[in-house]
Amino acid sequence: MRLSVLQHSPALGETDANLAAVRETLDGATFDLLVLPELFASGYFFHSTAQVEALAEPVPGGPTTAALIEMARAGGGHVCGGLVERAGGRLYNSAVLAGPDGWIGTYRKLHLFYQESRWFTPGDAPPAVYDLGAARVGMLICFDWRYPEVARMLALQGAQLLLHPANLVQPHCQAAMVTRSLENRVFIATANRIGTEAQPGGESLTFTGRSQIIDPQGHLLAQAEPREPALLEVSIDPAQADDKSITGTDHLFENRRPEHYGILTAPVN
Ligand code: ACM
Repeated sequence: MRLSVLQHSPALGETDANLAAVRETLDGATFDLLVLPELFASGYFFHSTAQVEALAEPVPGGPTTAALIEMARAGGGHVCGGLVERAGGRLYNSAVLAGPDGWIGTYRKLHLFYQESRWFTPGDAPPAVYDLGAARVGMLICFDWRYPEVARMLALQGAQLLLHPANLVQPHCQAAMVTRSLENRVFIATANRIGTEAQPGGESLTFTGRSQIIDPQGHLLAQAEPREPALLEVSIDPAQADDKSITGTDHLFENRRPEHYGILTAPVN
């Protein structure tokens, strides 16, 4: 399958202009699956709940989901990207998966980063796997990478490819995802952003770029530059992720010892 990852620098609060810029970048590109960054049309470093409320939208039914569906139709495949979701009076940092026939699924970020908990409610459900025909995929969002349980839950449900919209500001994720890939024998597509955003108080965040695609053996198939926009494209065989056999006797999943892993789900005192 042809897998694409877009890296760009959206302007904070300029949803319409950011969507138009993504359409222009795609410029007739076709793909089986395209991954866009976290909050790719709204920007990231908000300063008030009112600001986030103004950018929030229902899923499906909001303009960013409509744009994802339109991109899926134009590109002839599926598209995943992040947005501010409004649901039941709450705001979520969500990733949406869409295809030419419409909305397919939403993942609400479980592990919020830094100031995100000022406006977002953490996700309320475990991540799910979607069979797109070309691949079985699951979504995680940015800081979820710090919690290996998220990638593991997806891999245990049969995901071959993890879709990872991100707005990374710390330097470790790109290298750590090689380990997530080796731990789970899955492809991982991280779509990160570039640029800097500042709050009125003066604090700013600079995003680290280096969007990447990793294969189930931990090989880097493609990586963007830290400060340049990019549209990565690779051809992958998702079935490679179905082979969990490390040696003839070491099977990644069959040799797990979940009866001894209870502490992983126990609350921390
Ligand atoms: C992040 O979760 N956006 C770092």
